[in-house]
Amino acid sequence: MKIPSGTPRGMDLRLPITPLNIPRPPYTLIKPKGNAKGDRMKTAIIYYSYEGNTALAAKTIASAIKKPDVFEIKTVDQKKRTGFGKYLWGGGQVIRHVKPALKPLSVDVNTYDLVILGTPVWAGSPAPALVSFLAEKKISGKKIALFCCHRGGKRNVFIKLKKLLPGNTIIGEIDFIDPAHGSSEELGQKIGEWVKAIGA
Ligand SMILES: Cc1cc2nc3c(=O)[nH]c(=O)nc-3n(C[C@H](O)[C@H](O)[C@H](O)COP(=O)(O)O)c2cc1C
Repeated sequence: MKIPSGTPRGMDLRLPITPLNIPRPPYTLIKPKGNAKGDRMKTAIIYYSYEGNTALAAKTIASAIKKPDVFEIKTVDQKKRTGFGKYLWGGGQVIRHVKPALKPLSVDVNTYDLVILGTPVWAGSPAPALVSFLAEKKISGKKIALFCCHRGGKRNVFIKLKKLLPGNTIIGEIDFIDPAHGSSEELGQKIGEWVKAIGA
């Protein structure tokens, strides 16, 4: 190899030299994929489901997001009611503002950038189990997105939910009519668009 004149003795000519004489690093910097700001939001999906619809929506949202943590809220009372008695029992809980006892759920909401909360609609309200959870965890200063499942009468469930989440920024909401009885393709498409819109 011909050594250019003026090269100091001992200089390693194999290192590429930048105009500032700083050797280039032997690796490539890859910008992580993410939301519009370029950083990925750490996301938790937390939901309650009595009959599987909200669970299906949660699962579908989870599959549309990069590595979310998913948590299911469960009540201590696991008895399954059916028929008219189910509505009397559940509706009665809503009217009497009952906060059912929950099974322990190990989730530290403070470690997430975005918390996605899901509930079935009971008597035009969030299910009492989710209300119990929010009373226990007292989430604040978070980005929150809301989803609910119902049979066509969601009424003002989101307004009620937002009242339980003061001090947070609600970045999106979406509702589904009994998704477990509908098309999974339609559900996937609707959720895919929503997830994009909220930047999750
Ligand atoms: C106690 C109770 C009350 C309900 N109240 C309503 C309601 O006010 N409006 C409505 O559209 N659906 C109502 N539903 C139907 C559920 O919201 C709906 O089937 C939902 O998809 C169930 O979600 P899940 O399968 O996750 O429990 C009620 C269901 C129950 C069990």
